[in-house]
Formats: sequence, C-alpha cells, structure tokens
Amino acid sequence: MENHNLKLVLVIGGTGAQGSPVVKALSASGRYSVRILTRNPSSTQATKLGALPNVTLFKGSQDIQKDLHAAFAGVYGAWVNLDGFTIGEKNEIFYGIRAYEIARHQGVKHYIFANSDYTLRKAGWNEQYRSHNDAKGRVGDLILSHGQSTMKTSLLTTGPYIEMLLDGMFVPEEQTDGSFIWENPSADGKIPLIALDDVGAYSLWILDNPTESAGLDLEVATDQVSFADIVATFTKVTGKHGIHKVVPLEEYLVKAEPYPGAYSNFTVSPDVSRDESFTTWRENFAAWWRYWGEGKGATRNMELLDRIHGSRIPSLEAWMRMNNYDGRPKSVLKSLYDLRKGGANSE
Ligand SMILES: NC(=O)c1ccc[n+]([C@@H]2O[C@H](COP(=O)([O-])OP(=O)(O)OC[C@H]3O[C@@H](n4cnc5c(N)ncnc54)[C@H](OP(=O)(O)O)[C@@H]3O)[C@@H](O)[C@H]2O)c1
Repeated sequence: MENHNLKLVLVIGGTGAQGSPVVKALSASGRYSVRILTRNPSSTQATKLGALPNVTLFKGSQDIQKDLHAAFAGVYGAWVNLDGFTIGEKNEIFYGIRAYEIARHQGVKHYIFANSDYTLRKAGWNEQYRSHNDAKGRVGDLILSHGQSTMKTSLLTTGPYIEMLLDGMFVPEEQTDGSFIWENPSADGKIPLIALDDVGAYSLWILDNPTESAGLDLEVATDQVSFADIVATFTKVTGKHGIHKVVPLEEYLVKAEPYPGAYSNFTVSPDVSRDESFTTWRENFAAWWRYWGEGKGATRNMELLDRIHGSRIPSLEAWMRMNNYDGRPKSVLKSLYDLRKGGANSE
C-alpha cells in the first residue's frame, strides 16, 4: 500500500545495482514512499526491496509507453535509470526522452535523471570517444535545456561504480602466487569511481533540496583514482601484491569481449535482430577505456560533494576497508545475475 502522507517517488531501475540504494535511502528517510517499476515483481531483488517500509512494486517495462504513463501517474518525484545494456542505445534515447515527456504530462514535480558522462561531447566530439554512456548524456542535456518551470529536473551523473572492482569491468585475476592482476588498456588518468551506497544519499539530498538541486548536473564520485592508485591501495589494504598490467587495446578487446563479435548489449541474445545503430562490445569499450583511462571523466567537484554529503565514503581506501575487499568477485549487477541464471523473468 502506498502511504499518502509521504511524497511518492517512482524509481525506474529500482531493482538494479544503482537504483536499489536509492530505494533503500528513500525508504529509510521516512519522508518518501517509493514505487518501483520492474518487469518481474517476484525476482529476488524486487521481493527484498518490496518488503521495506513504504515501498511498492509496480509491474511494467521501461520500454512500453503505456507502462510509463501508468507508473508516473500520481507521483511527486521520479528517479529514472534506464538500462541501455538491455534496451540498447537507440531505445535508451527514445525512452529516455519519452519518460521525461510522460512525466511532464503526468504532472511530476521533481525529476531526477540517472545520467552518465556524455563522453563524445566531453572529449571534444572525437568519435573515438563515442561510448554507450552517450545515450544518457544526450538525454541529460536535453532535459536540462527545457528549464525548471512546472517540473524541477536534476541530473545525477555517475561514472563507473566502485563495485565494478567486484563485478564487471574492474575485477582482477587472482594468480597462483596470491597476487592479483588488473590486465587492461587503461592509461594513467584518474577515474571517478562512485560507491553505490552514496548514490542513495545523493538522490535523497536532491529530493530534499529542490531549490539547490533544480537544474543541477551533480557529477558524483567517491574517489578519482588511476589504476596505479587502485593497485597501491589494494596492496596497502590487503597486504596482497597488486599489479596493473597495461595491454594494447586491440589485444585486450579480443580477449575480454563476452563472445566473438559481441554486441554492446551483450546480455540480450545475439540472435535478436539489430540495426546499424547498435555498436559492438569492442567498439563501445574501446571508447569507454579511452575516455575513463585518460582521465577525461575526472571532472567531479569533490568540495561540493563533501558539503552536500558530509558523511560520504571518503576514499577508495575507506571503501575497500568497509567492504573487506579482497580482490575476489561478488555479484553486483542484476543484468549479469539474470544472465547467469537464464533471464530476468526466470525466477
Ligand atoms: N556499471 C557501471 O559502472 C555503471 C555506471 C554508471 C551507469 N551505469 C548504467 O546503469 C544502467 C544499468 O543499471 P544498473 O547498473 O543498476 O544495472 P543492473 O544492476 O543490471 O540493473 C538493471 C535494472 O534495469 C531494469 N530494467 C532493465 N530492463 C528493463 C525494462 N525493460 N523495464 C523496466 N526495468 C528494466 C532492471 O529491472 P527489472 O529486471 O526488475 O525489470 C534493473 O532494475 C546502464 O544503462 C549502465 O550504462 C552503469
């Protein structure tokens, strides 16, 4: 049951790695109730979140417009993270725009878009930096361009999750001698890693402080670190030897792609028809590594983040200590979890 004494916030992507800390933070605040849009209210993640105070589950899909209309109806606020890795870049742009338009139609008061760096624009329109992040970046720019009358809008821009050290792109390989190797093409730039728990706190701050957060593109990070920093911190915290082995991009891409010729949205079957707007995993992650590895995303205003979230996780070292990080993998991303068990609706 939705509690009508609280401000109701629709969270799209609420069962995911980024959205679930937002749901938890809003629920724990006692100031908001939450409606989560999910394709499968019976999933492990949805069931756990649905048991929290003032959280309800709403069955629907982010790429069906009638579901978006129904989901946005009657809500005060919205926090929207579309999953480009599932719906693809072109759909992410279309539904990113449609979700915003439908929210306006439905009279939403504060719209938070879970944004990512517009890598192509921030790297000076050089196509070598055109990555999957751009789908959100384009939509984010468009949203802010419409101003702040009748609906407040805020961008919450995340770089790579710090949790990618556990699942996904930044997991090291344990060697027989007990050392851990990060083998990738990263240059020595600083990468703005964000701890997901703090995404919840920043989202709550945005909702609680509309005067300051309206029109803001809040670029968040826990720490801006190079791979040399990551291995040095790992060694300091765990006492284990960490190594960053830089390999040429082409060599890395062939070795790391999920399957030969994989698409960027590799969690969706390769047999599903795709048009030429779909990038391959190699094209996408070549640009992704260039952008982040060269430090082009190290643009976060850490003083601002300290001010608005004084108890934020202060550093990569603190995150590693808090999480007893030991270099070994753990499940973080719902899409990868679903892929391993055979699909988002198979529970
Ligand atoms: N990994 C990173 O470091 C990173 C950093 C910044 C941004 N991002 C971006 O975050 C997005 C993915 O979110 P995540 O990291 O939270 O991934 P995740 O843990 O895999 O979660 C995916 C979320 O998307 C939802 N979803 C997928 N397709 C849906 C659909 N058709 N209708 C409704 N919900 C749908 C899932 O909900 P249900 O399964 O419950 O329907 C789930 O909540 C991607 O666009 C990615 O580019 C990732």
